[in-house]
Amino acid sequence: MRALILLVGGLFASLVFAKPAADLDSTTRSEISERIAPVGSVCLTGEECASAAGAVASASSGPRSGDAIYGQYCIACHSTGLLGAPKTNDAAAWQAAEQKAGGFSALLSNAINGIKSMPPKGTCMDCSDEEIGVAIEFMSGLKP
Ligand code: HEC
Repeated sequence: MRALILLVGGLFASLVFAKPAADLDSTTRSEISERIAPVGSVCLTGEECASAAGAVASASSGPRSGDAIYGQYCIACHSTGLLGAPKTNDAAAWQAAEQKAGGFSALLSNAINGIKSMPPKGTCMDCSDEEIGVAIEFMSGLKP
């Protein structure tokens, strides 16, 4: 009797649970895996990041353009010359700053470390040195 109950129970279970799973078509399966997919992923510097939806952009997603960095961080002071900042596209002012610093790389390191009223990295704390460099190129017209 006991064995029969187990047998019937087992049969019932396999009907209820196994059958529908086997009937799932591929669309439903992919819908399910989409729904249970992780909402985000972590990627380390140097690793290629998943481009799937939900992947969080990070520094390793490639450098931003000078235009983008400038428009978000540097424009506040450099467009108007606030606090004595060399003005955007003022070639003479930028050449003078470059000369005073002693070359483009010195200018870059001043921008990275900050100089007088110029805050370190122009407040773009997650900017790479390279991104600061292209932002300087963008607003000054100088070339490294
Ligand atoms: C809060 C205002 C402010 C912001 C924001 C700012 N700067 Fe400046 N920047 C200044 C000032 C002021 C100076 C002039 C410093 C001095 O007196 O020598 C300056 C100077 C510089 C210089 C010349 C450094 C030198 O050696 O003379 C560079 C290069 C520079 N900024 C790059 C940047 C970049 C790139 C950004 C954006 C990522 C940025 N700045 C954002 C205020 C700012």
